[in-house]
Amino acid sequence: MAASAAISKTIYFGSFVHSKTLTELDICEKGAIGVDEEGVIRFVERDSEVENVLEKYGEWKDAKVVRIKGNGFFFPGFIDTHTHAPQHPNTGLFGKTTLLDWLQKYTFPMESSLSSLPLATRVYSNFVSRTLSHGTTTCAYYATIHVPTTNLLADICLARGQRALVGRVCMDSDLSPSTYRDASVDSAIASSKSSISYIRSIDPSGSIVRPIITPRFAPSCTPACLSALGALAAETDTFIQTHVSENASEIALVASLFPDSKSYTHVYSTANLLSPKTILAHAVHLSAPELALVKSAGAKISHCPASNTAITSGVAPIRSYLEQGLSVGLGTDVSGGFSPSILEECRQAIWASRFRAMNEGDEAKLSTEEVLYLATRGGADVVGLKGRVGGFEVGMEFDAQMVCLGAVEEGGCGDGLFEGAGGAVDVFGWEDMQERVEKWVYSGDDRNCAAVWVRGRLVHRRKGVEV
Ligand code: GUN
Ligand code: FE
Repeated sequence: MAASAAISKTIYFGSFVHSKTLTELDICEKGAIGVDEEGVIRFVERDSEVENVLEKYGEWKDAKVVRIKGNGFFFPGFIDTHTHAPQHPNTGLFGKTTLLDWLQKYTFPMESSLSSLPLATRVYSNFVSRTLSHGTTTCAYYATIHVPTTNLLADICLARGQRALVGRVCMDSDLSPSTYRDASVDSAIASSKSSISYIRSIDPSGSIVRPIITPRFAPSCTPACLSALGALAAETDTFIQTHVSENASEIALVASLFPDSKSYTHVYSTANLLSPKTILAHAVHLSAPELALVKSAGAKISHCPASNTAITSGVAPIRSYLEQGLSVGLGTDVSGGFSPSILEECRQAIWASRFRAMNEGDEAKLSTEEVLYLATRGGADVVGLKGRVGGFEVGMEFDAQMVCLGAVEEGGCGDGLFEGAGGAVDVFGWEDMQERVEKWVYSGDDRNCAAVWVRGRLVHRRKGVEV
């Protein structure tokens, strides 16, 4: 399963589901997807019998064949547009804290311990395995301030074949402890440059891993550091990720630290950190002028509803963002968020929208179709992969998961997944495809994620699954 292993031409037979538009799923009950040795989709056939497909594409007669097991379907791999690998050991630990005390109590101490290469090897390998097992084929990661372990995270993603943006975190203000902080602007820039060069050296084409400039958030950085990072992004043509407008105390802190700035978002725009390659996490409480700024810069939004609820930051108005034409993806934000699963984040996005709907009316509700779009095609736009991944179309790369649905094994104590079964979602045989998708979204989990491919390469399969 190493990323460098050759792959063979493969035809994937069975049902497939993907987003056609924000509001519409394309559901094909009997399909075939032909993927070449480069992992590129060369044909998509609908309503075809296996023999007819093999007859039509004679030159594919020696291709490997992968068939859906049980009541499943192929679905595009999920895209996590915002998460923190070094916070993985803290998953589920937040108590009653909110952002600023949560950072001090849980986050900075854990992140600072990730300077250790042995610890980072364990934590990062485990987290990449964990996100892959939930069907995440692309992930925008924050690492820590430490260059060697940040680079190690990139190595692990490349070896496992998960597409990743990997960011060495910059923070030179006195918000964080003196032992976990950049000593100066110069050293923050030097460390960032070093990590960018390393990540570009291990994957020059950037097709699997890419660096991302990562000012943690405005309160963690001096104005000089923010501006230097903005200049570095322009000079190196690199993606940028940061947090914005997550919580009321944080917004007040930014106002006090940057008294000359018109708003939180203006702090980033002044430092030239807003571009079409910028991922802004949270964006819960943006004002109209801030939204206009984000839109005119072409910056993207990572919606992290599980985290926003867990550390009680607020409920982002996603319906309004979508109506304004902003580009939105989903982010797990581990460990502000309590799950590495984008499927869970889909549910959380639906719930959060329903809390807004209770005050604003039904129009605020996000549908199953909409959250699945945000989890795939929406996320692809956020991470710069629009048109390359997120759907099953000729010319796109095959980043996919095999979703299997079934029933719990009666009285069993085996693995319970195959033949035909697929834990966590009970399917009785009368459900149509739309209903199966709904059941998966509301009650599925990693037990339903039987196998995962990135660019046609198998990067995860559950025990007992043959593909
Ligand atoms: N703001 C600054 N750092 C962080 C972080 O690690 N997580 C979240 N959710 N918000 C932040
Ligand atoms: Fe975050």
